[in-house]
Amino acid sequence: MMAKEKVVLAYSGGLDTSVIVKWLQNKYDYEIVAMTANVGQGNSELEGLEEKAIRTGASQIFIEDIREELVRDYIFPMVQSGAVYEGKYLLGTAIARPLIGKRLVEIAEKVGATTVAHGATGKGNDQVRFEFAVKALNPYLKIIAPWREWELQSRTDCMNYALSHDIPIPVTAEKPYSIDRNIWHISFEGGILEDPAREPDKDMFRLSVDPLDAPDKMEEVTISFEKGIPCAVNGQNLEPVQLVEELNAIAGRHGVGRVDMVENRLLGMKSRGIYETPGGTLIAFAHRELEHFTLDRETYHYKEGIALKYAELIYYGLWFTPLREALDGFIQKTQEPVTGTIAMKLYKGNINVSGRESAHTLYHHGMVTFEQDELFEQKDAQGFINLYGLPLTIKGMMKVKKDKSREATGN
Ligand code: ARG
Repeated sequence: MMAKEKVVLAYSGGLDTSVIVKWLQNKYDYEIVAMTANVGQGNSELEGLEEKAIRTGASQIFIEDIREELVRDYIFPMVQSGAVYEGKYLLGTAIARPLIGKRLVEIAEKVGATTVAHGATGKGNDQVRFEFAVKALNPYLKIIAPWREWELQSRTDCMNYALSHDIPIPVTAEKPYSIDRNIWHISFEGGILEDPAREPDKDMFRLSVDPLDAPDKMEEVTISFEKGIPCAVNGQNLEPVQLVEELNAIAGRHGVGRVDMVENRLLGMKSRGIYETPGGTLIAFAHRELEHFTLDRETYHYKEGIALKYAELIYYGLWFTPLREALDGFIQKTQEPVTGTIAMKLYKGNINVSGRESAHTLYHHGMVTFEQDELFEQKDAQGFINLYGLPLTIKGMMKVKKDKSREATGN
C-alpha cells in the first residue's frame, strides 16, 4: 500500500480547524499533520492541544513557540518603520501571518508533505497573507483553503458537521465574534460587531480595562531604545517577549491602546474591527517621540511616507518581497541615532510624554532660545525669506501687473 499524501494544517484547536482535520481526511484521504504556532495567544488556547489534535484525527502535532522570532524579527522592525494601517491599526494580526506561514512551510518540508492547509475564510485578509508566504517560500506546495471549497457556510454548519462526524467540540464558550490573539494584540470582528453603529460589550475586552475604571492616579513609565529597538522598561533591560508582556500589563491597567475602526480590507470591502494593543501603543508612541528628538527633518518627513507604504505592505501580506527588504535597508539606516529614553504618563486611556533623553538628539537649546547666542545670526533670516519666497514674490508681481492692465482696458 502506498503511503498517504501528507498535509500540514495550521491548527488552532478551535471548532473550524477541528472540522477541517476530519474534512481533509474524508475528502482527500490525506494524512494530517497539525501545526500550531504559539504566538502568545495564551495558555488556555494551547492546553490539551496535542490530545485534541490526535483525537480529532491528526497523526501528529507540532507546537511551535515562535514568540521570540515574531517580536524580534517582525514586530520590532515594524515598530522601527512606524507602520500604522489607515492611521489606527497597529497590524497585530497581519504581522504574525507571514511567520506562521513560514513555519508551516518549514514543517511541511520536514515531514515531506505535499500540501498545506489553513482555516482562513474566503473574504478575509488572512488567507492572502498565509498563501503569499507559502508561495514566496515554497511555491511547489499545494494549498487547500477549505472555507473556499466546502459546502459549509457558517459556524452553525461547522457545529453540525462536528456533531455528525464525532468531532470533539471545543468546550470554550462560543463568543459572538471572531477573535485573534497574539503577544502584540487582540482583534475582534464579525458577529455582533458587524453593526458599526453599535459599541462593543464592556466585557469583551481582555488586555485592557475600560478607561473609566482605570486608576485615578497617573503612572509614569519609561521605555529605552537602542537604534529604534525597545530594550528597557523603567531602566530595566528586558528580552523582547518579556518587554512586550510587561508593557501590555502596564498600559492595559490604564486602558491604553483600544481602537474601534472601519478599515479597508485587501479584497475590497470595508470591515469593522476592534483592537487592543496596549503595550504596542505605548511602544509606537515612545518610538515616534524619540524620532522627533533624534532624526533630522528631511529624513523624518521622508520616513513618514515610507511608513504608509510599509503598513500597506504588511497589511497586504507582502512581507517576503524585495520591496520590503529594500525599505528595511532605508529604515535600518534611519534608526542609527534612535537611541535614548522616553518617559510617559498614563492616565485613563491617555499617554502624555513627560521626558526625553538621548545622546543623539538634534535638539539644540542654543538654537531655539530667545537668549543671545553666537551660532545663529537673526539677520540671516531675512535673506532666507527673500530667496525661499522668491517664487511667491514673482507670482505676486505678475498678479498685480495683470490686475492693473485689466483695470486700464476694462476687461
Ligand atoms: N482585520 C484585521 C486584519 O486583517 C484582523 C483580522 C483578524 N483575523 C481573524 N481571523 N480573526 O489584520
